[in-house]
Amino acid sequence: MINIAVLGYGTVGSGVVKVINDNHDIVNRHAGQEVNVKYVLDLRDFPDDPIREKLVHDFRPIVEDEDVKVVVEVMGGVEPAYTFAKQAINAGKHVCTSNKELVAAKGAELLRLARANKVNFFFEASVGGGIPIIRPLMSSVTADDINEITGILNGTTNYILSKMENEGADFESVLKDAQEKGYAERNPEADVEGYDACRKIAILSSLASGKQVDYEDIYTEGITKITESDFKYAKELKRTIKLLGVSKNVDGTIYAMVAPFMIKEDHPLAWVNGVFNAILVNGNMLDDVLFYGQGAGKEATASAVVSDVIECCKNLKHNVPIIWDYDKCQLGDFGTAKHKFFVRIKGDDLDVMDKIDSIFGKVFYVKCADIKGESAFVTEEITEKDFVEKINKIGDMLSYIRVK
Ligand code: HSE
Repeated sequence: MINIAVLGYGTVGSGVVKVINDNHDIVNRHAGQEVNVKYVLDLRDFPDDPIREKLVHDFRPIVEDEDVKVVVEVMGGVEPAYTFAKQAINAGKHVCTSNKELVAAKGAELLRLARANKVNFFFEASVGGGIPIIRPLMSSVTADDINEITGILNGTTNYILSKMENEGADFESVLKDAQEKGYAERNPEADVEGYDACRKIAILSSLASGKQVDYEDIYTEGITKITESDFKYAKELKRTIKLLGVSKNVDGTIYAMVAPFMIKEDHPLAWVNGVFNAILVNGNMLDDVLFYGQGAGKEATASAVVSDVIECCKNLKHNVPIIWDYDKCQLGDFGTAKHKFFVRIKGDDLDVMDKIDSIFGKVFYVKCADIKGESAFVTEEITEKDFVEKINKIGDMLSYIRVK
């Protein structure tokens, strides 16, 4: 029997207990022994839940109990998760986490510490919820130089964008609906401003490059400025709008960003709707491979966490290498990244079009029958820096979206 402790009895923590209970035969078969939840740490009491018998309010009994071999950290946030993870690893315990804030900020350090202590630090659920992506990247897509990772990495924003597109609704009312349905947090900033997706693409970039990609270095734009009109234009262009995390390897330099993109209707990520996530990985030998599934949710996320626990059970005596060095990866200068841009500016007379042509050169104009008083166009591929310069010259911009 292997004893584990679960830190945090929220959505994911209670999901972990549920997966271990409901699927005990299959979990135990894969683990090669019985997986037993010995402790659950939470500040709250759960008097009506059978978990109350295992509940502790302090980390000390867990870290001091030599019978506990695996600590599952599903509290979220960097602290106290980081302190607990470090203490657990230093005490010779394996750590599995779903916590992207912790992994993005301290992943390299905790991996190094785990290696030194001959235990494992696993984090499958930190990106893409239930979608297997970390382990496949580390154990399957290992013969390839990864050219690009492009992902729909946030379920809340994908739900909002899908609903805006399908129902012609505006951002604010869809956000309210998402909050009422429990998809979006009361404070949705991390999701709608792209910060959550940014941490996830930072983790994937770190794994792809083998070095520390700091999320603070990643250009990040959310979806708060996307309007119903943008979706109307996207339709004219036979495209949809998705919030993408992109990590690209250009001649050995990594360029990473999070932003809404207009993508073609036949793009592999275009049909990913609602709260689903998907990650498209392009390798230099493999070409495209797509990982799709539930990027959030109790059971799906917990399934990924328990798969990590099982992996620990299979590797109790040794560290499974995950190559993610402490050395900082210097990202490519975002200003030099090239994109096409869809742009809307005020005014639709000839003077405005002359101005657009003189500043942007060749552009492709887009018309939308029921939108008046503005000009919309798609630029040729230009650098981010050039785009900013041109857009400052033109003035009266209503919005822009990158086009893939
Ligand atoms: N808030 C996240 C999302 C949860 O909406 O995808 C999963 O990380």
